[in-house]
Amino acid sequence: MGAARSYAVIDPATGKLDRRIFTDEAVYADEMEKIFGRAWLMIGHESLVPAPDDFFHTYMGQDPVILTRDGAGRLHALLNMCRHRGNRVVRCDDGNQKRFMCTYHGWTYRNDGTLEHVPGESEAYYSALDKSALGLVAARVESYAGIVFATWDRDAPSLEAYLGDARWYLDTVFNRCDGGMQALGPMKWLEPVNWKTLVDNCSDNYHVPTSHLSSARVQTRWLGRPPLSHEDQFQSPNKHAFVNGHAITFREALDNAPRYMHGMSQETMRLFQDYHDATMPEAERRLGALRARRVQLANHSIFPNGILGFRLALPRGPRQTEFWHFVLLERDAPEELKRIIRIGSQANNGAAGLFEQDDVDNWRQVTEASTSPFARRQPQDLSMGLGHAGPHPDYPGLVSERYISENNQRLFYRRWQEFMNADSWADIALDPISARFDGIATMRG
Ligand code: FES
Ligand SMILES: [Fe+2]
Repeated sequence: MGAARSYAVIDPATGKLDRRIFTDEAVYADEMEKIFGRAWLMIGHESLVPAPDDFFHTYMGQDPVILTRDGAGRLHALLNMCRHRGNRVVRCDDGNQKRFMCTYHGWTYRNDGTLEHVPGESEAYYSALDKSALGLVAARVESYAGIVFATWDRDAPSLEAYLGDARWYLDTVFNRCDGGMQALGPMKWLEPVNWKTLVDNCSDNYHVPTSHLSSARVQTRWLGRPPLSHEDQFQSPNKHAFVNGHAITFREALDNAPRYMHGMSQETMRLFQDYHDATMPEAERRLGALRARRVQLANHSIFPNGILGFRLALPRGPRQTEFWHFVLLERDAPEELKRIIRIGSQANNGAAGLFEQDDVDNWRQVTEASTSPFARRQPQDLSMGLGHAGPHPDYPGLVSERYISENNQRLFYRRWQEFMNADSWADIALDPISARFDGIATMRG
């Protein structure tokens, strides 16, 4: 691993990964600066603050942040730390407020972060306090199709450049309909795992037939879902692609079947199919025929910690992650369909979800394996599919020959390493946007 500023944790030739990055306190502290202090981070969704003066409490890594919509409708991401001694000025999850008053000495901020009122400003401070320099610390904020991102780094590229060609894939879920999306939640829980393992798992389709065997059998038996097998996975024409730090898996849909969603079963399939058919003209207009009909986003992650749709792996120390699970729904979908997806989402990947429980046990063990003195020196093996990925004529990014591959994992840890070794954004590479974005969908929705 080397000195603090020189990480060499993944061997690209062999896929060996130094597992000390999952438990080492110094590495974790460095991650908070080099990755969470620098990258664009998913922090919320515009639908969580729909009206003027709404706010939603969230996090950028470990830093508490208030996502606000001011009276003029502009979004702000404000560090939830009073500039006087440091108390939190918001102590609840969400609400609607024009001002936030610190309950220690009463400094009061407008919801755009401006420090408006200081008790005793003229008497105690003799009018010598520069209030204009003491607003809540603001991050840069940008949205993509309603998902709000923020970064502390003034030198970070635009969010559009940061997402790059990954957006070509992400659009197929997040930018598919004119009415946009709405976020429900989050459901929150703590997991005794390192945050990176959750992200890495987003492209790990290899584990599904083994880890989720019993869950899948329950689904097959009671919901009429097709069985999951290794054979299906190995023969699958689905794809595994990496773009700009973001890991993608997707189905190349040559039929007219809707994208797999939680809540699908024999009983509900008709509703999903009808909705798919009814919205296809809209999707084609927004995304072009190729993306609307053939590209169905599956498990994926947005660097560093956005996972599986609109869910967050918030670091809480090297051995703990606070998981935020949102359900993201197409706003104009029929209420009955939304209800089915919402319930299906909780049943699969909520805190007590069938699949989530299988996953958390694996992730916990991966983290535990990096704690004992001898075991932690034995590397992980991420060699699957080495040398079997490259450019694809139809799909952007680096695409693996097979759906089952560890290409995305190797590249995720290389991206991590690149951030950790960089002194600034000048040292971090971004692939140029080269995909063809057919249709009318834009960054703004
Ligand atoms: S700490 Fe907030 S007013 Fe003093
Ligand atoms: Fe899983």
